[in-house]
Amino acid sequence: MDTWDALRSRRNVRQYDGRPIPPEDIDRILEAGWRAPSASNKQSRDYVVVTDRQQLEELSRVWQGAGHVASSAATIAVVYPEAEDERSSALGAFDQGQATMQMMIAAADLGIGSGHSAVGDHEMARRILGYPDGYRCDMLIALGYPADRPLRPIEHPNRRPLAEVVHRGGW
Ligand SMILES: Cc1cc2nc3c(=O)[nH]c(=O)nc-3n(C[C@H](O)[C@H](O)[C@H](O)COP(=O)(O)O)c2cc1C
Repeated sequence: MDTWDALRSRRNVRQYDGRPIPPEDIDRILEAGWRAPSASNKQSRDYVVVTDRQQLEELSRVWQGAGHVASSAATIAVVYPEAEDERSSALGAFDQGQATMQMMIAAADLGIGSGHSAVGDHEMARRILGYPDGYRCDMLIALGYPADRPLRPIEHPNRRPLAEVVHRGGW
């Protein structure tokens, strides 16, 4: 897929066909996250990759919107140092968002679906994923081949009209 097609094909995929993802493709998705920019190039993100079925099922209980993690082929947890103030919290969220999106586009490029999940129960997430005190996880990226239909460019995404969103020369 070229970049524009990968970007237009990405959608939240929450049902997977059960096929495993080749390790080299998971590595490429992780490399996409590793390559993502970060404020002052601090690169404070770490990634925990989960492929064990029982661990995925446990992880799917950290949030009411995480059910799809249970049947994913792999899930990547984005882990970040806890913020000390509002500014680092905002920058940290931005850094994690950039990495998340870059991994999702890399997945789409490989025909692999991805689905976000937030984290509700942080103690449970820490216990399952084993990251140290002082870190937190706010985003899980579930991965797998779509069960419904292959990824292809979406002509009419469910979005506010572009002309309403874009303001040229001022609001
Ligand atoms: C910060 C963030 C948190 C999200 N959390 C969840 C979640 O917990 N569970 C879920 O199923 N989807 C989650 N989503 C996915 C959004 O619902 C989805 O991106 C949005 O509805 C647009 O659909 P699309 O990704 O298919 O274009 C999240 C997305 C973002 C950006």
